[in-house]
Amino acid sequence: MRRLEQTAAAAPFSLEAWSCLQRGRVEQALSHWVAGDGLAPAGLGEAMRYAVLDGGKRLRPLLVLAARAAIADEVPSPGLDEAALRAACAVELIHAYSLVHDDMPCMDNDVLRRGKPTVHVQFGEAGALLAGDALQALAFELLTPGGPTVPARVQAALCRLLAHAAGHAGMAGGQAIDLASVGRALSEDELRHMHRLKTGALLQASVLMGAACGDAPSRALDALGRYGAAIGLAFQVVDDILDVTADSATLGKTAGKDAAADKPTYVSLLGLEQSREHAWELRQQALAALDDSGLEDTRALAALADAVVHRAS
Ligand code: IPE
Ligand code: IPE
Ligand code: MG
Ligand code: MG
Ligand code: MG
Repeated sequence: MRRLEQTAAAAPFSLEAWSCLQRGRVEQALSHWVAGDGLAPAGLGEAMRYAVLDGGKRLRPLLVLAARAAIADEVPSPGLDEAALRAACAVELIHAYSLVHDDMPCMDNDVLRRGKPTVHVQFGEAGALLAGDALQALAFELLTPGGPTVPARVQAALCRLLAHAAGHAGMAGGQAIDLASVGRALSEDELRHMHRLKTGALLQASVLMGAACGDAPSRALDALGRYGAAIGLAFQVVDDILDVTADSATLGKTAGKDAAADKPTYVSLLGLEQSREHAWELRQQALAALDDSGLEDTRALAALADAVVHRAS
């Protein structure tokens, strides 16, 4: 297995340096691909770019690229590297679309996202609805470039993983449960199921999409799936915590919304301290899965698991 290109074998791994480099690639690609050709009519392109560019932690793209780096062979493969960059952007487009719709008045009715007015505030409800629709479609267009560069089986695998994680068995299904659960006290099993679907599925898919850009042995795939499931759930547990403990300026979105909207969360179920402990346990599970993977260099994935749990926004 190839060592992460950006670090000499013996040098300590810096997530900050690695992320900075990868984020730069992702920002450039997104800016190039998202309605940058002037062909999106009637303000649609502007709303799409507003929703995607200039903000966000880009965690999902980083997970795709970290998993790709962990499974990459010694032999360079520009086609698979391109597939991974496309996958990184595609998953961010699905995520951005989910945020646009999540913020709409018919869902969480939020006015602030990534430090800016939400898309429906800026472009109207129909504009936000259509921007979300168009971002979702663009994600799958990016995954299927045609031509010989990205093997057809890789294109198909990426589409299958992303569609499954975004649809009724993943994000959209979890959002449906979320809306149906307002004012209800869920059991821990029910809450875990909702969080795994609405947020965990797309994060786990990010990891598996990175792994699909190569020939990971089944032991590694299984372990990466467990890693993705653990950090996916941890991410939403921490989102629930931050909604209570952080302020809107730090988050770039309105704090305190969950209690105000009477949403069941890990904090409402377990309290702050136990929620923090649970996030930490999930981090341990994620790291244990990486140890089981048999992969030589999982430093970026391990550092991202830490970042998920320790993040301030
Ligand atoms: C927010 O996701 C929505 C959830 C799934 C909890 P992020 O916290 O990753 O949002 P950005 O992309 O950084 O804005
Ligand atoms: C949203 O969960 C998950 C999505 C699928 C977008 P939240 O509603 O808790 O996300 P935030 O807190 O608004 O970012
Ligand atoms: Mg929501
Ligand atoms: Mg919300
Ligand atoms: Mg939230």
